[in-house]
Amino acid sequence: MITAAQKHFNLPSPDEDSVAHSRLVADHIHQKIIETGGSISFAEYMHEVLYAQGLGYYASGTAKLGLNGDFVTGPEISSLYGCVLATQFASLRSKLDSFCILELGAGSGELVVQMLRHLAVLDSLPEEYLILEVSADLMERQHAKLVADIPDFIDRVRWVAQLPADFSGIVIANEVADAITVERFRIENSDVLQGRVVSFGESFNLVYESAPAFLEQFVRKIEADLGGSLNHGFQSEVSPALHDWIKKIAASVEQGIVLIIDYGATRREYYAPDRCNGWLQCHFRHHVHGDAFILPGIQDLTAWVDFSGLAEAAVAAGMEVVGFADQANFLLNGGILNELKDFSRLSPERQIELSGQVKRLTLPEEMGENFKLMGLSRGNVAPFPAFAGCDKTHYL
Ligand SMILES: C[S@@+](CC[C@H](N)C(=O)[O-])C[C@H]1O[C@@H](n2cnc3c(N)ncnc32)[C@H](O)[C@@H]1O
Repeated sequence: MITAAQKHFNLPSPDEDSVAHSRLVADHIHQKIIETGGSISFAEYMHEVLYAQGLGYYASGTAKLGLNGDFVTGPEISSLYGCVLATQFASLRSKLDSFCILELGAGSGELVVQMLRHLAVLDSLPEEYLILEVSADLMERQHAKLVADIPDFIDRVRWVAQLPADFSGIVIANEVADAITVERFRIENSDVLQGRVVSFGESFNLVYESAPAFLEQFVRKIEADLGGSLNHGFQSEVSPALHDWIKKIAASVEQGIVLIIDYGATRREYYAPDRCNGWLQCHFRHHVHGDAFILPGIQDLTAWVDFSGLAEAAVAAGMEVVGFADQANFLLNGGILNELKDFSRLSPERQIELSGQVKRLTLPEEMGENFKLMGLSRGNVAPFPAFAGCDKTHYL
């Protein structure tokens, strides 16, 4: 069955099993709404569609990443991505008490493979490569991939169920922050309202009600930072859960660097008057649209990251921001073109393939500008060299 909204966005039809699964997810959320007295916050809705046990997008067997899935990420596009990061990581090795890597949300496991292969070439393998993954389904796929692709390094990889205490090394989270739940809010006159999800026939709708104190505080802080009130009718998102997430990460790092990579903007851009409908983004079979209520549980639901807010929460938790750059600048400074040595000796097909990958990662209209890298340091660890000359921390 294709809904009017799916038609409107010109989305491909899901197969029958996916439709049946999505109905189960919708039923589960309708039930939750009944149990909670008629509505749940948007953040609760996002949590259920993404993470409800055995049902949510990340908690069930949907393809998710890659060409047969719904979206591709930097490492899925090109192994050059992992090569650049591995070179940057290796450059910090001697400055760290212990050289361990902790990857949060490792997806298909592609980045682990790229990094360990390249770190081996650089003779800089980490003592351990830890993975913290919330999706049991993806964890299984990661394990199978690493056994097949890097059997020689698998003994260095360990899956952990929670953030380790007193971690020393480098933490990386690529496209994880956008998967953390957000609250939706709306300004009505000068009041802050909270977006709440209600049942609407077989589907859902968003209604706005007076915001709870924590949400009002978040929005008032944003207004204070911007130096003025948000306009009547302005709608957007905030992510208290993202702030909690970064605080927990900060608390687990004793010495090292945390590298957050994601699509996002500074606070001033994020809450600019022309962005009055927010930054939610849904991904289904490589189509991007803004309707969070269709295809529950079988489409990815994300929100761009307010990097200023994230930086502020990290600093409050004792970390220092040591770099903030567009992906294009970071990758070019980090030597992505050096990884193309022997380019002229490659076949024309391979040359076209590699240039296409570099373009996708670096062109401003592709991932080059929207994607940002933010480095957070604890224990006076120097930033990655690739931030030199392109650091925009002062924009945050
Ligand atoms: C968009 S995918 C990105 C995957 C991978 N990092 C990449 O670049 O291809 C998001 C990943 O984050 C995981 N995830 C979501 N929330 C998480 C959390 N709080 N902690 C750790 N992983 C999380 C998901 O299960 C998934 O593996």
